[in-house]
Amino acid sequence: MTASPLAAREATLGYGRHVISEGLTVDVPEGEFTVIMGPNACGKSTLLKALARMLKPSHGTVLLDGKDIHHQPTRAVARRLGLLPQSPIAPDGITVADLVARGRYPHQGILRQWSAEDERVVAEAMDATDIADLASRGVDELSGGQRQRVWIAMVLAQQTPLLLLDEPTTYLDITHQIEVLDLCAKLHREGRTLVAVLHDLNQAARYATHLIAMRDGAVVAEGAPADIVTAETVQEVFDLPCRIIDDPESGTPLVIPRALAAAPR
Ligand SMILES: Nc1ncnc2c1ncn2[C@@H]1O[C@H](COP(=O)(O)OP(=O)(O)OP(=O)(O)O)[C@@H](O)[C@H]1O
Ligand SMILES: [Mg+2]
Repeated sequence: MTASPLAAREATLGYGRHVISEGLTVDVPEGEFTVIMGPNACGKSTLLKALARMLKPSHGTVLLDGKDIHHQPTRAVARRLGLLPQSPIAPDGITVADLVARGRYPHQGILRQWSAEDERVVAEAMDATDIADLASRGVDELSGGQRQRVWIAMVLAQQTPLLLLDEPTTYLDITHQIEVLDLCAKLHREGRTLVAVLHDLNQAARYATHLIAMRDGAVVAEGAPADIVTAETVQEVFDLPCRIIDDPESGTPLVIPRALAAAPR
């Protein structure tokens, strides 16, 4: 396996005495579009927070470029990786343009003030997420889907080689879901390393180049999507009986849940 830019090593993750993952080892492969899937509350967001230095393991480490992420300066980490949290909170009264501009903070400093380059990157991020016409609106007066796209724009404006996205398609209508995933695929083709949590297994199978399936805080399967999205793994991870057929558009696995619910009366 190639060296991984980001990894958890024997990490114990949790909240106070509540342990979610024990001795978890996960490698984020360089240059891949990794998707993490698994049932609610299995520890996906907890893992992402740990990988983004938002949560410190009680045992073990998270390594960014081979070094303990907690021994690296905040700004340096923010130039390497950007995180879209599952439920981000915007500062009161902030406008869309100002929130997206915050993505540029890690690139600024005492000697490096706001520049034309920052302006260009922010405009590009807003275009890519289809929010340019919302620039002067207050973030708290947007719809759920508009707001989600503003947060994605902020993370894009950070221009990091590593992107961690916790359910980036939540709240989005189907067109915007596909647009965001196409955008992720484009970033991946351009050389970025992505990690996204997705609940839609069919989208995961289409877009991911590497899949990690979690259950009860542990990784139960990982590898190429075609090897992971199988009826056996879906049963094991989600307790859901299903059939797998070929997606007629992409040829990737398509999960068809079995009809167990009430037969017609
Ligand atoms: N801040 C917190 N304090 C205490 N417990 C937490 C906290 N955040 C999450 N947990 C608990 O940790 C467990 C794992 O949560 P996590 O958010 O990682 O799940 P998830 O896999 O992302 O689920 P979902 O698909 O619902 O987003 C859950 O039991 C949850 O209640
Ligand atoms: Mg989550």
